[in-house]
Amino acid sequence: MEKVLTTLAILLCLISCLSVECRKMINPHRNLLANGLGLTPAMGWNSWNRFGCNINETLIKETADAIVSTGLAELGYQYVNLDDCWAEYNRTPKGEVVGNYKTFPSGIKALADYVHSKGLKLGIYSSAGDRTCSTGMPGSLGYEYVDAQTFASWGIDYLKYDNCYNRNIDPQVRYPVMTKALRQAGRPIYYSLCEWGQSNVATWAAGVGNSWRTTGDIVDKWDSMIGIMDQNDGNARYAKPGGWNDPDMLEVGNGGMTHDEYIVHFSLWALAKAPLIIGCDVRTITKEVKDIIGNEEVIAVNQDPLGVQGKKVMKDGNLEVWAGPLCPGSKVVILLNRDSQESSSITATWEDVGLPRHTSVEVRDLWKHETLKGNSTGSLTATVGPHSCKMFILKPLVGT
Ligand code: GLA
Repeated sequence: MEKVLTTLAILLCLISCLSVECRKMINPHRNLLANGLGLTPAMGWNSWNRFGCNINETLIKETADAIVSTGLAELGYQYVNLDDCWAEYNRTPKGEVVGNYKTFPSGIKALADYVHSKGLKLGIYSSAGDRTCSTGMPGSLGYEYVDAQTFASWGIDYLKYDNCYNRNIDPQVRYPVMTKALRQAGRPIYYSLCEWGQSNVATWAAGVGNSWRTTGDIVDKWDSMIGIMDQNDGNARYAKPGGWNDPDMLEVGNGGMTHDEYIVHFSLWALAKAPLIIGCDVRTITKEVKDIIGNEEVIAVNQDPLGVQGKKVMKDGNLEVWAGPLCPGSKVVILLNRDSQESSSITATWEDVGLPRHTSVEVRDLWKHETLKGNSTGSLTATVGPHSCKMFILKPLVGT
């Protein structure tokens, strides 16, 4: 008997050692990053979805002001991120990248100081290529160490790193160079890979970046938003604290979707542990939009310390159930109706959401902000309107 147990113990040990070795082989970059950031998905704002190339220092400062005055900062939105078009077309004679003299006359360091004085963090953008995507600002390929050093010296807190003009060099070669450069620069900078999900990025980006785009660019339309989330869903198992799947930034408030569709957008992004990067003009935000991106209960799902990406667990035509685990022992559930015309009744069974069949739960509706009367056992059913969703937390009752 003793012999059998010893053999079993040795076997178990061998298997676990082997799996560690396997993981190393599958992802050779897994220990590169180690910046301690992104333990929950990043929250903030980015200029691209709403402003494209029409950015300047006044806009960014006013946005920082608005993030504070609207209360969004208090809810966790802390990064104020410049996207493409912030830089001069040419590097300085020393080879450094520099802020556009016309649109950012005070320089990026002064902007970082301003944003920091508001208690927020400043993000910047570059490309793992020769030029950036839109107006062809200088990219960082071949200049990774210079640029990381420049960004750190300005007090940058977040880098979005795009994929244009990349000379067809393998992303697994290009992106880790910036990881090392940022590390060497010595400032903790959240590193957001924007490789568009082209080379199975989710399978190797943990340890390279704090998040990685899994899809092409979002457009402010239902089909784009929902299609991107489907694509992102396939990578769910790779997300974890420190490294998240990124289905692109939020379009909530930009006007291309209905109120219900934006609720679906925000709910799914929260459940999928996506970075919550606001993409609208927060200076003129309406109460309706603020109530979506400012829903504390939904934000709490996104920021749950367990850090497990929820996923699609049931599909019946246009009716779907998405679910995932939360800390400690609760489940988040979205009942989603993708039909554009009809309301429907949707049922999530405990089998779908991963609860033992006889468990009784307290049900909290995260959009109505109310706890349902009576408990549920075995399943949960609700009527859901077209292009709409309902979002709940199921909290198991002790002893069931
Ligand atoms: C790419 C990125 C976008 C945005 C633009 C800027 O398309 O995927 O998110 O940064 O570049 O040019």
